[in-house]
Amino acid sequence: MTSRPERDGKLPLTELQEMTSRGDPIVMVTAYDYPSGRLADAAGMDIVLVGDSAAMTILGHSGTVPATMEEMLMLTQAVTRGAKRPIVVADMPFGSFQVSDEDALRNAIRFVKDAAADAVKLEGAGPSLSRVVALVGAGIPVMGHIGLTPQSATMLGGFRAQGRTAEKARRLLDEAIALEEAGCFALVLEAVPAPVAARISETLVIPTIGIGSGAECDGQVLVLHDLLGLYEGRSPRFAKRYADIGGDIRSALERFGAEVRSGAFPAEEHTYAMPEEELEAFLNGSRAESRTET
Ligand code: KIV
Repeated sequence: MTSRPERDGKLPLTELQEMTSRGDPIVMVTAYDYPSGRLADAAGMDIVLVGDSAAMTILGHSGTVPATMEEMLMLTQAVTRGAKRPIVVADMPFGSFQVSDEDALRNAIRFVKDAAADAVKLEGAGPSLSRVVALVGAGIPVMGHIGLTPQSATMLGGFRAQGRTAEKARRLLDEAIALEEAGCFALVLEAVPAPVAARISETLVIPTIGIGSGAECDGQVLVLHDLLGLYEGRSPRFAKRYADIGGDIRSALERFGAEVRSGAFPAEEHTYAMPEEELEAFLNGSRAESRTET
């Protein structure tokens, strides 16, 4: 069992690789606003991902594809105001990097300049490789993401595990190596069989961050709303729930509604008093005075 080293200021990006060499697991979580960024920082997260899962968890879409640059920029700005120590990674939404290297660079620069992101994440290998080279060449750290890549879930046959045949597993390993060579500082492995993720993790120098990919990855990430029990839709089997915040919020709202309707809220302690004589003057004269003033 390892514990997080105490330090002030931003976690250096280079520390991630050192953690991996030491065998210290990297902890990453998604966040989408100021309070979740602040809490992720206070809880000692190493990396905070402003995931395009926001399209589902925050904006109510059924997938991640509808997330826009403007939405992701606004959410990233809020998160970076709250998360100071963790490395904040902004997820590049669908359409922001698929067209060309130039487009990808222009959009990644917006995340760094306008939203104070430390790094960006983009999905896939293939055409994404030259995007990684372009971004890293411009000084923007890039996290890769392979396996189940939700932006291309339709092409992958839905939200399902990837790399379950020898040939597909081999392809994932090749993609992982290519992304490392292109300059990624870390790689998310989503819904990849544990032994395949283990082989990728031992092959790469850069850390792997697993989600539904077993315990041998160098770090783990969960979607905040899954782990808090705040997402109403169907969560994947790998999403462990650590709290029932959705249930807590609902019961708090139900109690609030009941107390307003019964007259129990607001009580004396929730109201402001005023000096007795001012109240007298107000009740006896204010109506007439305010009429004559106007
Ligand atoms: O958008 C997201 O939340 C992600 C994580 C699942 C890694 O990409």
